[in-house]
Amino acid sequence: MTFPTIEWTPALAIGDPAIDRQHQKLFRLAADMVSDRDQVRAMRTLAALSEYVIVHFRDEEKLLEEIGYPELAAHKKLHDDFRARLAKLYANAGGMTLDQIAEEVRLLINEWLTKHIMVVDREYAKYLAK
Ligand SMILES: [Fe+2]
Repeated sequence: MTFPTIEWTPALAIGDPAIDRQHQKLFRLAADMVSDRDQVRAMRTLAALSEYVIVHFRDEEKLLEEIGYPELAAHKKLHDDFRARLAKLYANAGGMTLDQIAEEVRLLINEWLTKHIMVVDREYAKYLAK
């Protein structure tokens, strides 16, 4: 089974260089995981992705706190949902095939994260500009 490559594009830039770099790294890790046919290496990449999501959300939430973003609580809740889904995937991955894991990563990064950046992160980008 093949999956479309997950790529960050400039259309996803929100204007904070550090956050944009982190978003790029998340897409890169996901693309690496999805395209890897080696189970051990793919699982290692999934672990790296899971850890990096934690780092990224923590940094982003810290930034939103610093700029006094009024929707921080709601934004955090969305991150919580994603953190929970990824943690569940990581916990269940041992009993899944590589294709199943890759499909879930694709859903999480290609669909969820892309939408999140384009819609929800874009909302706080307006505050960054102020
Ligand atoms: Fe976010």
